[in-house]
Amino acid sequence: MTGPALKTALPGPKAKAIIARDARAVSTSYTRDYPFVMARGEGAFAEDVDGNVFLDCTAGIAVASTGHSHPAVVAAIVDQAHKFLHMSGTDFYYEPQVQLGEELSAIAPMPGPHRSFFANSGTEANEAALKLARYHTKRQNIIAFLGAFHGRTMGSLALTASKLTQRRGFGPFAPGVLHAPYANCYRCPVGNSPDTCAAECLRFIEEQLLVHLVSPDEVAAIMVEPIQGEGGYVVPPNVFHERLRELTAKHGMLLIVDEVQSGMGRTGKMFAIEHTGVQPDVVTMAKGIASGLPLGVATARSEIMSWPPGTHASTFGGNPVACAASLATLKLLREGLVKNAEVVGAHMMARARGLMDTHPLVGDVRGRGLMIGLELVRDRHTKERATRERDAVVHECFARGLLVLGAGQNAIRLSPSLVLTKEQADTAIGILDQALTSVSARRP
Ligand SMILES: Cc1ncc(COP(=O)(O)O)c(C=O)c1O
Repeated sequence: MTGPALKTALPGPKAKAIIARDARAVSTSYTRDYPFVMARGEGAFAEDVDGNVFLDCTAGIAVASTGHSHPAVVAAIVDQAHKFLHMSGTDFYYEPQVQLGEELSAIAPMPGPHRSFFANSGTEANEAALKLARYHTKRQNIIAFLGAFHGRTMGSLALTASKLTQRRGFGPFAPGVLHAPYANCYRCPVGNSPDTCAAECLRFIEEQLLVHLVSPDEVAAIMVEPIQGEGGYVVPPNVFHERLRELTAKHGMLLIVDEVQSGMGRTGKMFAIEHTGVQPDVVTMAKGIASGLPLGVATARSEIMSWPPGTHASTFGGNPVACAASLATLKLLREGLVKNAEVVGAHMMARARGLMDTHPLVGDVRGRGLMIGLELVRDRHTKERATRERDAVVHECFARGLLVLGAGQNAIRLSPSLVLTKEQADTAIGILDQALTSVSARRP
């Protein structure tokens, strides 16, 4: 598949018909930014039901890490499917799950030995980590960050502090959760610049939360995204994670890193936290770990994950077909795709930064590897958020054959498959350039 190549007006007739049926049969809670109806995919391309081919810089929200339907992943799925589809790893044993636990232990961003808990999604991986932290420490409270996204089930949702629509109408939330500011250098909560950042925003935890609201010996864990994903692809300085590690170690709290979006090679290292040298106690994964099959994992040091049988389990979690897809995915990541994310990511980042020269609308470009965010602002000085313009740029990209998604209130995220080539990255940036030009021309 090559492209982008558009054949019909968008949405085309077949897409329109499916969207009309969707409106009657499917939950209204999903956020569909534009009318893309997928028929098939190959590598970094996605074709819609009317035969229009798009360059996909979403990878289904950072999931299709090895590209759409990588032949090696499909072969592993088919092979496992012929043997057996399910036997519940909760009640029985099967080798693909054991092997995946072993392989995750070999790459985990902290010293072993490790054990892994298998679930079906990012939110479930985080639920497991939260329950484990409470169980292991015998403490109740958890600290998370403003702007965080950890999932939408009731435990994770209590930690999620990204968009109000995700919380409004669903309270009360699980008790014992406190939020602190995240080190967003573009909008520093304490007015520092990135060069002078000493993660002073963490003083809020030490001098406010742990003084006025909760005793440190009653905090089970701090959960943090190494790079905030849904929050706007926000990359904190390393010192932020370093100080979090010091703080948690000092008070006997667990440090849980949520690598659901930033993990599995996307940033040019297997885990984004590896860029900081910080070693967490627990790491959670999902999205890109199985190239599109549902799988979530919480991996912890073995001495922490020693809860007795029956304390936590899942019928489908660690399904053998998902484990087989994950083993094939990890092999592809190790054998070149993590490196490709680093190399093509650096190229794409440089090209994206170049857009700042000609587009005042682009206030900031940041990220690591193929996890790249562009924050749009109406004025670079006031940093007024250009939310409407961001939405318009996303639509203009779609109209030109490029799939991108928003992140946070006013950022665009580029989270393509890790098979992306430099030429495809150039095509994506070229389309983004045109979209920005078109939206800027329409501004008053
Ligand atoms: C960092 C992070 N954690 C957790 C989740 C939740 O994952 P899921 O939608 O698979 O439940 C997401 C999803 O976007 C995420 O980005």
